[in-house]
Amino acid sequence: MISHNKNIILGIETSCDETSVAVYQEQENTTDPSKNILSNVTFSQIDLHKKFGGVVPEIASRSQLEKINPVMQEALNKANITLDDVDVIAVAHKPGLPGSLLVGVCFAKALAAVKKKKIVAVNHLEAHAFSSCLEHNVPFEHICLTASGGHTSLYLMHDFGNYEIIGQTVDDAAGEAFDKIAKLINLPYPGGPYIEKLAREVNFNDFFFYPRGKLKSLNFSFSGLKTAVLYDLVDRGAYDMKTKTFLKNDDLELKQKVASSLLVCITDIFEKQLQKAHKLYPHVASISLVGGVACNKYLRHRISEFCKKRNLKFFTPSPRFCTDNAAMIAFVGNYKAKQNKFSDLNFDIL
Ligand code: KG4
Ligand code: ZN
Repeated sequence: MISHNKNIILGIETSCDETSVAVYQEQENTTDPSKNILSNVTFSQIDLHKKFGGVVPEIASRSQLEKINPVMQEALNKANITLDDVDVIAVAHKPGLPGSLLVGVCFAKALAAVKKKKIVAVNHLEAHAFSSCLEHNVPFEHICLTASGGHTSLYLMHDFGNYEIIGQTVDDAAGEAFDKIAKLINLPYPGGPYIEKLAREVNFNDFFFYPRGKLKSLNFSFSGLKTAVLYDLVDRGAYDMKTKTFLKNDDLELKQKVASSLLVCITDIFEKQLQKAHKLYPHVASISLVGGVACNKYLRHRISEFCKKRNLKFFTPSPRFCTDNAAMIAFVGNYKAKQNKFSDLNFDIL
């Protein structure tokens, strides 16, 4: 049994295609925040959705319904606790796929009602934005770039639970751009990791100089990039618009060049927006990079070098905390519990 003088938080995350449960408790006598994550168990459904080329909401929520209980049991076992030891249940309630969110939220509410636990409804994006704090003591204020499959935003992070959006995508998210363009050249879903692998094989060179866009604000736009890549492929005789078919499936070199040029382009866009953000908020001394796209090692390296040059500290979570995970939900649940910001049992999704 672990000591019980700080809240034990059970985090639940089912906003898209993962089923994840974590146990979190602040530990005494440590400056290493990762010691507070007592367990984090994630069941990934990627294999279920691969053959459809994207997440199928119905399949996602049915799988979550099946997995949520065993995943929770495993998380409790790994943390060496039982449900009775839990003080607070934290659950992602927005944004996300409605059917998926409902599985986690109904499960969390049922547990809270039956076991008489306090509950905290957590915004999934707030959890991503603070996910670099899971393993690092990230000083405030800092600038956070969140890049995932559904969202791309820049935040000015004031304090725990206190942050403001200073830029966001006006159309597609960066991860969506990776996934959609990967699909154009017949790569499997999700495309981001395949794009990275192909780009590495040609040393992350920029071959095709895709447009970086001309947004003056701190916002992002990626839908034009997808169209630019599409027309470039058509010009090269590699894509048939009528039948929506990639015609050069055996041309590995072309796929590598597209992947590498795309990764360099998106990284350049991120760097440019961070540079502008730093100019606008010069007092900020740290930058964090979070969300599924932040798994990308090339991107991490480039942003880390960018920060080094400007004397900024750089923080990014381990890959398992970049993609959707319940530890980040529990982390927000923990500080909200300390701020006495609990939810009523009648909160809704979205
Ligand atoms: O945060 P996340 O797991 O789910 C959302 O909340 O959206 O992000 C998933 C996104 C996908 O678009 C995927 O292609 C992208 O993260 N991603 C990557 C890499 N690994 C995952 N993008 C680029 N490079 C990667 N290595
Ligand atoms: Zn996410």
